[in-house]
Amino acid sequence: MPQEHYDVAIIGAGPGGYVAAIRAAQKGFKTICIDKWVNKQNQSTLGGTCLNVGCIPSKALLDSSEVYAKLKSIGEHGIQVENIQVDIEKMMARKDKIVSSLTKGIESLFKANQVVWRSGQAKLVSPTEIKISSETITASHIILAPGSLPISIPHLSFDDKTIVDSTGALEFPNLPKKLGIIGAGFIGLELGSVWNRLGSEVTILEAQAEFLPMVDRQLADIAYKEFTKQGIRILLGTQVVKASSTKTGVQVLYQKGQKEEKLEVDKLVVAAGRRPYSEHIAESTSGLKIDKKGFIEVDQHCRTSLPNVYAIGDVVRGPMLAHKASEEAIAVIDTLTTGHGHVNYSAIPSVVYTHPEIAWVGKREEELKLEGIEYKVGTFPFAANGRAKAMNESVGLVKILGDKTTDKLLGLHVIGPFASELVHQGVIAMEFGASVEDLQLIIFAHPTLSEAVHEAALSADERAIHRVNKGLGVRG
Ligand code: FAD
Ligand code: NAI
Repeated sequence: MPQEHYDVAIIGAGPGGYVAAIRAAQKGFKTICIDKWVNKQNQSTLGGTCLNVGCIPSKALLDSSEVYAKLKSIGEHGIQVENIQVDIEKMMARKDKIVSSLTKGIESLFKANQVVWRSGQAKLVSPTEIKISSETITASHIILAPGSLPISIPHLSFDDKTIVDSTGALEFPNLPKKLGIIGAGFIGLELGSVWNRLGSEVTILEAQAEFLPMVDRQLADIAYKEFTKQGIRILLGTQVVKASSTKTGVQVLYQKGQKEEKLEVDKLVVAAGRRPYSEHIAESTSGLKIDKKGFIEVDQHCRTSLPNVYAIGDVVRGPMLAHKASEEAIAVIDTLTTGHGHVNYSAIPSVVYTHPEIAWVGKREEELKLEGIEYKVGTFPFAANGRAKAMNESVGLVKILGDKTTDKLLGLHVIGPFASELVHQGVIAMEFGASVEDLQLIIFAHPTLSEAVHEAALSADERAIHRVNKGLGVRG
């Protein structure tokens, strides 16, 4: 049988791979996308980690649990709701329905764009060949997008019932009374919030002494206070060394300083980070370079060590985020079609979807200090924002960092209501090379949360209206 030949072949159909496939097909390339994902109903599905067990199901549960938490405090609005109950089975079914409709949506997009979808495990054999089971296909250009997997901790094995990874924590059939989580990162805090809101006693064990080191300190401190107030126990500087299932749950052993301590929980979620999933992506004879940590080596255009072979998403350097994977996908196809593809790695937004949400783009104050960049800071608290007050959401602030000499916007950090949406004002501004003054001169509708961005920009030059400015002679 003659080998099938494609212009573009992609391994992996997560937000990296499926976006690359659609864009390649839109550009007229004969495109195939191969993925081995099989869901719990034993069906092959598209969408990878993000759609099946990541971004989407976690946000579905975050929203459901948030509605529940809000209803419990709705009395302040003068609304009486009695006998509020949670039906976890129904909540999970809603989440599964959302996942299914979105993964089916990608299927339709593949059909509409004439992307060939092949289910199965694929392996790069050479710069032009991919093996899928016993079949080999050839392609002029190959894109590797195999994603990542949860890191496992030595002396601690998953049993898929009591000791689970994030996927298991999205599937608990009932409420764990005591829930332990290893890692106070993105997953630990988001899934910890879900189960805490639903009524679990959540303890998060975090090895690092500093809480959320990737977040601007001022915001991280507010977050720590808020999460603790919500009843999430966060034990910093605690390194989990062992955990084992017992008759009643899980016993966790952790090191705190010189001391070894124990924690008994009903379920334990391991959210200790993710690692690139590269071990089965290529034959060792293919010549593909993979670094010591398992990342496929690429240059700034996602070109691997092999000609016409690209790698994108979680399997290459940079943040493990869906939108970063998708942007790399677009950039690679742009490179194939025009010779120029580009990802602005300095303007990738990050969001932790807790309550309050935390979102940022650009540099943190600590980074600017380390880099010796002279900067100015403007902050504005949601407590002084009319819309936030009307929403009963006055915790948090917007923080803007600008270059002291050039006035260029260097970072926008938000903790508070709809931070995940507000941060994009900073992303757009930074992409357009805006100055802090540009943000000051724009008209923002009243009353909106966005006004806090405006006021934070004004505050950087001590010109905020709805707060007392520090200095004198503030007229600009
Ligand atoms: P993946 O989505 O992991 O897709 C890789 C695909 O490749 C998989 O479908 C896999 O089956 C397939 N594959 C691998 N090897 C082979 C092979 N040899 N042959 C065939 N197929 C193969 N990011 C955000 O930006 N926002 C969020 O809110 C967010 N929430 C998350 C919540 C959780 C619980 C988790 C776990 C992750 C979350 N992420 C989030 C991270 C996000 O899911 C990843 O950054 C994103 O999925 C990476 O996309 P990717 O295409 O590189 O890989
Ligand atoms: P993470 O890197 O965000 O956090 C892992 C935490 O576990 C770290 O703080 C680490 O110090 C801690 N840890 C590691 N080993 C430990 C041990 N033995 N004992 C105690 N603590 C230990 O990783 P996480 O939360 O697993 O998420 C993986 C990635 O997935 C994220 O980095 C992010 O890129 C992506 N993600 C993004 C989300 C978003 O955009 N909202 C949501 C969820 C995941």
